[in-house]
Formats: sequence, structure tokens, C-alpha cells
Amino acid sequence: MPPQLARRIGRAKPSAIMQIAEKAKRLKAEGRDIISFSIGVPNFLPGEHVYEAARQALAHDSGQYGSNRGSDAMLDAFLEHISKIGLTGYGRVNLATGIGAKHVLYNLAEALLDEGDTIAFPTPYWTSYLDIAEILDAKVELLPCPPEQDYKLTPAQLDAALAKKPRVFLFNNPSNPTGMVYGRDEIDALADVIAKHPDTWIITDDIYNRMVFDGVGYHNFVHARPELLDRVIFVDSLSKTYGMPGWRVGFMAGPEVVAQAVTTMNSNHITNLPEIVSAAAVAALSGPQDVPTAKCAEFQAKRDQVMDVMNSIPGVVCPRPQGAFYVFPDISAAFGKTHGPTGLKVGNDVEFCSALLEAKGVACVPGSAFGEPRSLRISYTCPTPQLAPGMQRFAEFFAELA
Ligand SMILES: Cc1ncc(COP(=O)(O)O)c(C=O)c1O
Repeated sequence: MPPQLARRIGRAKPSAIMQIAEKAKRLKAEGRDIISFSIGVPNFLPGEHVYEAARQALAHDSGQYGSNRGSDAMLDAFLEHISKIGLTGYGRVNLATGIGAKHVLYNLAEALLDEGDTIAFPTPYWTSYLDIAEILDAKVELLPCPPEQDYKLTPAQLDAALAKKPRVFLFNNPSNPTGMVYGRDEIDALADVIAKHPDTWIITDDIYNRMVFDGVGYHNFVHARPELLDRVIFVDSLSKTYGMPGWRVGFMAGPEVVAQAVTTMNSNHITNLPEIVSAAAVAALSGPQDVPTAKCAEFQAKRDQVMDVMNSIPGVVCPRPQGAFYVFPDISAAFGKTHGPTGLKVGNDVEFCSALLEAKGVACVPGSAFGEPRSLRISYTCPTPQLAPGMQRFAEFFAELA
């Protein structure tokens, strides 16, 4: 018997989303015709200028370690980038970087939460929030936001949660998994509540901030209440906006003390983001923005296509998303039914997704992975020609339940 592992590893779970994606991959390898709506990848590549910057960096390799905080050029490019969404008043000392936003969030959790401290966040949530909190033995307070309230947090809910003085409140806008976006008035109302409760750090994981539809725009609590700059930590990433999930670049902008804490964490594990990646990041942030702009328009059109089908299926309740690239229908009307042609039973969201994959070759992620077992997540970044047939199979599956 080898020596035992740390207790925290017993609390670490493999990603539920990856498990569905793996099953879909296996069925595909067996020759099945699979359409995957499961994994949250943007499914496009960045512009040529990004690759050219990476090639140039390779040609001029410094042969040195880099800055724990991030290269000056990358920090400056990020400052300029966020100023375009009205996030101003920051300098390099307010920034830190990480190997993707996930790493930044993990670092933030390490930096802000002691064991037993509370982190509060709305449900449905992005799966890693819970996983990270559990690894660090933080207490989690879930704030339920069911489809009846469009999966959005109300000021009254936030007020009640913050009255309990959690160490951290974690907010995500636009949302993964629901695609919901908070409008200016909604953010203003939540910011008023936050201003009343000074004991809590606020993390806004807003990595989909450039993927907002219908002219709603992106809003942050610091737009509404600039005095919150000393408690709000904005998290961003290149992964979704620029089609660069594998390049692994994440950022935070917030109070100097927090940026320094994350930088110190970096100095103890990653040291720095690679030079080539940093150069590519500068090019993505500062170069032509035509790829992300075109993709946002494409995603809005795909959202419309998915919603047309959702609205046509009796029993499905689907709040209309206004950002990111997810749709999160409540499919609980199907529970307790059986899929006629295959005899597969649909008792809950996991069985629904499993039967849908078996019967129709369509992969979606069960809502329970995000803390909402009445729903499932569709990620609609698949190649455009696959979207209509995939949605048609989804509708057929629903119609074949009895
Ligand atoms: C809400 C949210 N936050 C953070 C991340 C992590 O992004 P990154 O690829 O930058 O680590 C994701 C990725 O799916 C996400 O959906």
C-alpha cells in the first residue's frame, strides 16, 4: 500500500461535463453519428495576427523567466481592452494573470478563503465553482435561481445572503450554463445591495463579456458604484472571446492587495505565463477584433435557431439567453416518461441526457452538473450545418416520450 493522499484529494471530483464528452467521443469512435452540444468550447480559431505574433516571439526567445504578474505588454494590452467596456481606474498593480480564468479563480479562492469560510454563489453555477470550494474545504452557500426567475439572482436574495457575511460572493455574467445576462438596471439594483454589505469580497467571473446579444451590453457592479472598486474582482479570459481555450490565458483586475496575492501564488507555482503565449495574448487583445465580433453575431443567430425549436416543444420551459453560447431548458416535463422507440426510461436529467445520446446521438450536459437537475445545457458552438439536425433530433426525442 502506498502512503495515503491528502484529504483534499478525496474531495476533488472529475468534471461531470468531461464525462459526457468522453461518452460522446467513445460512441463516435464506434462509428455512431454524434452531434455534440456538450462541451463549452468556442469552436473557432483566432485571427492570423495572433499566430504571427507567436511565431515572432518564438524567433526572438529571450531564454529567461518572465514576470509573476504577467508581461508589461500583456498587462497594458489588457488594461486597454477592459477600458473599452468601461472598466477604468486600474493600473498594472491591479492586475494578475493565470493559466486560464479557471486558474485565476482557483488562485483567488486560495487567496481569499480560509478553510471553513463561506463562498456564496447563484445556482445554476459553473461546475468548477463548487469543485474548487470543496477542494479548499470552504463552506458553500447556494442561492437558488430557478427558471421561474429566469435563472437570475434577485436583490432580496442577495441581501439575505450578504447579511450572513460570506467571505466571498461569486457572480457570473453572462452565465455559464444559462446564457442569461443581467441588464443595467438589474446590475444597479444588485450593486446597491452589495454597497450595504462591506464584509464580502465580490468576484465577477465575466469571461463571456464580449458575447452579449440584443444590445443588452455588459455591465459590472463597479459601473454602478465605483466605490466598489476596492472589493470587486473582475475575471476575464481569452478562451471564449478569441477562440483560444488551449492557449490558457486568464486575467483579473481588482484591488491591489488581491492582485498581489494572486501574483505571489503564481510565484510559488507557475512562475509566469509562457513568453510565446503572452505575445499571442497581446496580439489578440490589441489587434483586429473582427473575429470575435463576427462570432458574437453568429452565436446570436444560433441562439435564435435553438430558441425557435425550444419554443416549439410542448412542456419545455426555456428562458431566453442573451449571451455566451448556451441554452438551458427546463426539461422536467419529461421526467417519469419512457422513450417509445427504445424503451429507455427518463427518470431525471441524467437519464434524459443518456437516453438522448443513445437514441439520437445528441450529447447535452445534465443540469445537475450545474446544480439545477430540472434542466440540461446545450452548447451551440457546433459547426452551423450540424445545429438544425441536432435540434431536430432533440425535438423528435421529446415527441417520442410517453
Ligand atoms: C463561467 C466560466 N468561468 C471560467 C471558465 C474557465 O475559462 P478558462 O478557459 O479561461 O480557464 C469557464 C470555462 O468554461 C467558464 O465557463
